Amino acid sequence: CGIVAYIGYREACPIILKGLHRLEYRGYDSAGVALLNGDLNVYKKKGKVAELEAFIAEKDTRAQVGMGHTRWATHGEPNDSNAHPHYSTSERIAIIHNGIIENYAALKQHLQQQGHVFHSDTDTEVFVNLIEEIQKQNNCTLEEAVRLALHEVVGAYAIVVLSRDEPNQLIAARKGSPLVIGVGKDEYFLASDATPIIEYTNEVVYVNDYEIVVIKDGQLDIRSKEDVQQTPYIQKLEMALDSIEKGGYEHFMLKEIFEQPRSILDSMRGRLELEAGHLNMGGIRAYERKFVNADRIIIVACGTSWHAGLVAEYLLEDLARIPVEVEYASEFRYRNPIITERDIVIAISQSGETADTLAAIELAKSKGATIFGICNVVGSSIARATDAGAYTHAGPEIGVASTKAFTAQVTVLTLLAMIVGHKRGTLSDTRLRELMVELSSIPAKVEKALLLNDEIELIAETFKDVPNFLYLGRGYNFPVALEGALKLKEISYIHAEGYPAAEMKHGPIALIDENMPVVVIATKDSSYEKVVSNIQEVKARKGRIIAVVTEGDTVIPAMAEFVIEVPLTSEVLVPLVSVVPLQLLSYHIAVLRGCNVDQPRNLAKSVTVE
Ligand code: G6P
Repeated sequence: CGIVAYIGYREACPIILKGLHRLEYRGYDSAGVALLNGDLNVYKKKGKVAELEAFIAEKDTRAQVGMGHTRWATHGEPNDSNAHPHYSTSERIAIIHNGIIENYAALKQHLQQQGHVFHSDTDTEVFVNLIEEIQKQNNCTLEEAVRLALHEVVGAYAIVVLSRDEPNQLIAARKGSPLVIGVGKDEYFLASDATPIIEYTNEVVYVNDYEIVVIKDGQLDIRSKEDVQQTPYIQKLEMALDSIEKGGYEHFMLKEIFEQPRSILDSMRGRLELEAGHLNMGGIRAYERKFVNADRIIIVACGTSWHAGLVAEYLLEDLARIPVEVEYASEFRYRNPIITERDIVIAISQSGETADTLAAIELAKSKGATIFGICNVVGSSIARATDAGAYTHAGPEIGVASTKAFTAQVTVLTLLAMIVGHKRGTLSDTRLRELMVELSSIPAKVEKALLLNDEIELIAETFKDVPNFLYLGRGYNFPVALEGALKLKEISYIHAEGYPAAEMKHGPIALIDENMPVVVIATKDSSYEKVVSNIQEVKARKGRIIAVVTEGDTVIPAMAEFVIEVPLTSEVLVPLVSVVPLQLLSYHIAVLRGCNVDQPRNLAKSVTVE
């Protein structure tokens, strides 16, 4: 979900609505605002922010204090009443909330006995009534009531609370869900991430877990749960406004796909210095010995980041000869895993906020492992929870389907594997040098792969109406097959499966007939001949082959219905190039099917609930 709030001298509503648009990628089931101007008015609507905007166009929205929310449903289906903000029973207090309250059922029962009335199925409405009840019982300030309520709720939250009885005040708190304060001149902004803030100020404060923020009469006050005043640590953000706008592209996803030559370069900047012959990664310097002596590396991640983790498994085992396990964070955290102090855990997350990944980190930390984070969002919770790490520097990724963040993650992981392999002596000077040269040429090769865009759009035309797709790859291209399939299902709603090409004959082959498109990633590498045999197997069952091949391949074009030629690169770097046409294929198929590419149904960019 996305949270935004404003307190200052300007009209709050336009700032909040614009902020909600910028945050919409975090969730878009429903949206709402609360405005404080003597009265406390809540307006909310199921659907996109645009629907909320239309709904309030005729209303009186004058106010200099307000908050807004865009929702990704957890408790209760998306509808008007489950949308945030939520009022307390007296309608004197309103709240917006991102996260989950686990003990809401017990609290709700208790509050109902006290006479509180509920209009929604959400845990959030319980939270606001709890605050109201506490305030009534203790006859205290809103701030005090919020503090006491936080002691009673179990779960994760970022909240903002407004009260009609205490105008010109905004209270917020966090535990486990992100919250950033924008510090302006005589005005403050609050949001789940910096995107709604940066056009007004680049000075931000990241709220820490268990902190309570009170902004009142132009003063910012941050306190611990025990009511001890904290000194706000103001950081300067380096985020350009154009990085969060579409810049002439029809969708953020297409813009981000096309940004990859640049974002890959940015992820190597200052790390790969070809002329000087150096590789640096500030984040691992202090942990170099740990990496060199690690018994094993465990990678935890979700979604596309998990796929980047799979690529890293190949890289780290190949180049650094360290055993690697790649885990879904959500499984790892509940499996009672075996972790020792000699393990290194690498957590990969674009947003740096994924709840399961964060919980997996905490678990590994408690067992004494060293945690290394690879995040895109600077200052994010995961970045702050890890011992060390490297940012991917891909710039803000707004499209819900991850593209440039994936290639940036793979680039950083490649650099990491090269550095560690070289230090461990498993990667020779010569091989290191070769890989450095090759990695430096990747942005240009990705640029070339992007020239395939029109060709891929034509392929998309042919397959836009099929119900199923199969993606096959081996070795380094196996995770790419998974990622290609994930991209397609996420944004086009076509069922797609990624499989190791050779494993196909143990099941998916039964699905193949003349209607089944099979995308085979068959670039020139050590498993090329084997993949050619797998293509024969598909062809023998009349499957329709779309092959991603290396430029100049003469064998596969004779067998495939469509071929997509990508530039030749080293086997260990091939995912960076071979994934690009798959991103474009899913993009065009989704557009041709009329899908909302940037905000696919049911998904959210940043999943801050488990
Ligand atoms: C969500 C997003 C995916 C993303 C995954 C992990 O499901 O829709 O695109 O890959 O979360 O997110 P993270 O921010 O941890 O990389």
